[in-house]
Amino acid sequence: MIIGLFAVAGLASGQGLAGNDCPFLACPPFEGAPTYNDNGTIGATPESFSIIGPPLQAVHASVERAPTGFAVDPSLNIYLTYPRNSGPTPNNVVIATNFTGEKPWPNPEIQNCTANQNASTCFINVQNIVLDPKDPEHVLWAVDSGIQPGSMTATPYGPKVMSFNLTNNGSLIRSYPIPLPLYHDGMNANDVRINNSIGTGGFAFITDESQDGSLVAIDLHSGATVRRLFNTSVVKADPGYVGSYDGQPVYTWNGTHKSFTHTGSDGIALQSGNLYWGVLASRRFYYIPQTVLANFSLSDQEVLDAVVFLGQLGSEQAGFTADDKGVLYMTASEQNAIYQVQTLQRYVSEEVNGTPPGGEGPVAPGNYVVKTLVRSGLIQHADSAAIWDGYLYFCTNQLELSPTFQYKNVDARRGPWYSYRLWIGAGPAI
Ligand SMILES: *[C@@H]1O[C@H](CO)[C@@H](O)[C@H](O)[C@H]1NC(C)=O
Ligand SMILES: *[C@@H]1O[C@H](CO)[C@@H](O)[C@H](O)[C@H]1NC(C)=O
Ligand SMILES: *[C@@H]1O[C@H](CO)[C@@H](O)[C@H](O)[C@H]1NC(C)=O
Ligand SMILES: *[C@@H]1O[C@H](CO)[C@@H](O)[C@H](O)[C@H]1NC(C)=O
Ligand SMILES: *[C@@H]1O[C@H](CO)[C@@H](O)[C@H](O)[C@H]1NC(C)=O
Ligand SMILES: *[C@@H]1O[C@H](CO)[C@@H](O)[C@H](O)[C@H]1NC(C)=O
Ligand SMILES: *[C@@H]1O[C@H](CO)[C@@H](O)[C@H](O)[C@H]1NC(C)=O
Ligand SMILES: *[C@@H]1O[C@H](CO)[C@@H](O)[C@H](O)[C@H]1NC(C)=O
Ligand SMILES: *[C@@H]1O[C@H](CO)[C@@H](O)[C@H](O)[C@H]1NC(C)=O
Ligand SMILES: *[C@@H]1O[C@H](CO)[C@@H](O)[C@H](O)[C@H]1NC(C)=O
Repeated sequence: MIIGLFAVAGLASGQGLAGNDCPFLACPPFEGAPTYNDNGTIGATPESFSIIGPPLQAVHASVERAPTGFAVDPSLNIYLTYPRNSGPTPNNVVIATNFTGEKPWPNPEIQNCTANQNASTCFINVQNIVLDPKDPEHVLWAVDSGIQPGSMTATPYGPKVMSFNLTNNGSLIRSYPIPLPLYHDGMNANDVRINNSIGTGGFAFITDESQDGSLVAIDLHSGATVRRLFNTSVVKADPGYVGSYDGQPVYTWNGTHKSFTHTGSDGIALQSGNLYWGVLASRRFYYIPQTVLANFSLSDQEVLDAVVFLGQLGSEQAGFTADDKGVLYMTASEQNAIYQVQTLQRYVSEEVNGTPPGGEGPVAPGNYVVKTLVRSGLIQHADSAAIWDGYLYFCTNQLELSPTFQYKNVDARRGPWYSYRLWIGAGPAI
């Protein structure tokens, strides 16, 4: 406000001004304004956005359409998913054959369920694929929302996680269909993580990005499944959420009719025994102990009471991943960035709120300090991220430029959509 008054005063007096239509950079400063050199001054030029972090190395270009899911295996094969809710595609899951080449994975027949296939055995709308933490050489997992494009509810047996055998041409090992009684209110399985060390045969944990939101846990031994935290604030969007993308506010559009996105729980990662998640149409993130979600005898209230709110982080966040040194990574599309936060006190290197660096145990929730690992104009809605062999990999898809988020539903995306990696010097969390 003060600056505004000053500018008006300057214009009125006409001191040192070239006119209202001078190009921004060519406008001379007000008379008497001190001059600054470019070196020590923030905001010396209109272009002085800060680039943060190490360089990015492009690992793949998606030429025809924008991916949501990404995995890299120990042989550095890259897998991508092209879900059908963002447009028709013959192939839902592919493996990269070279920088721009792709082929359907594990085979062409599985890519799009036909009427006479059991939907637990084929793809409808796979959102993401992840390596098995215990056996990454041999097993890859997929999560399928099971929702046909345009439909509001899932096809019977369509929502599922599937395990595939990498040493046997990607043959289906087992499918875990989510039971039909859990499909209510648009359940929309979005992302999955596996912990092989809980229970007899491990657990799969899924974020449900439906408007009401929930987390789903599957016992991989018995196949028993629960849907928890349904329609609670910790998995639901902020009402009327307006994010920002490349400097522009983001609304949801149906032609010229404006509304708001209400995507719920979305990004997910397992770190140090906790399940971390973010609510996409919000700037909030949370954790809950994995053993709580895996304990089917707890009441819904007991599960809700175990949720820890980690605060606001200045961006919506689509994808999470975690490394073997306590770090949680979050893709921050509003900031063209990847965030990181340390969860284990022994790796903390700064004093926070009187807690000295180092020590034992988890970082206290109030002492979480989220930082930007990397920020670059190359990062155009980083969606899914994965870690292998010292590198953090992620795909980008310009989601906010897609028709849903553009006035009159124009498609403002421009491919190719690149996937990148950057050095972090850590392996995946196990
Ligand atoms: C900026 O710093 C560099 C290196 O210290 C120096 O050579 C240069 O003259 C400085 N530029 C200005 C505008 O002060
Ligand atoms: C996939 O299958 C659905 C239903 O079986 C069909 O409507 C759709 O056209 C198919 N998509 C492609 C790209 O083959
Ligand atoms: C890349 O892979 C595609 C699909 O597998 C193939 O058609 C193309 O020839 C490959 N390009 C190069 C340069 O090897
Ligand atoms: C489809 O597969 C599921 C899971 O294996 C099974 O429970 C169901 O009976 C099958 N449905 C049909 C129609 O075969
Ligand atoms: C994967 O396939 C290989 C080769 O057929 C087989 O030896 C192995 O037992 C299979 N692994 C799983 C987990 O099914
Ligand atoms: C995998 O597929 C290739 C080519 O289709 C075939 O030659 C090979 O025998 C298959 N391997 C297994 C373990 O089935
Ligand atoms: C979700 O919770 C809201 C109140 O927070 C309630 O109005 C709504 O009916 C609930 N939806 C369902 C499907 O239970
Ligand atoms: C978009 O608006 C049209 C009419 O203007 C309506 O028929 C359609 O259902 C709306 N679509 C959605 C997804 O709300
Ligand atoms: C997997 O579960 C085990 C047993 O609860 C736990 O020790 C481990 O930290 C969990 N893994 C991750 C990555 O959270
Ligand atoms: C599940 O929770 C109940 C109630 O707190 C507890 O008695 C039981 O030991 C828990 N089960 C496991 C496997 O931790």
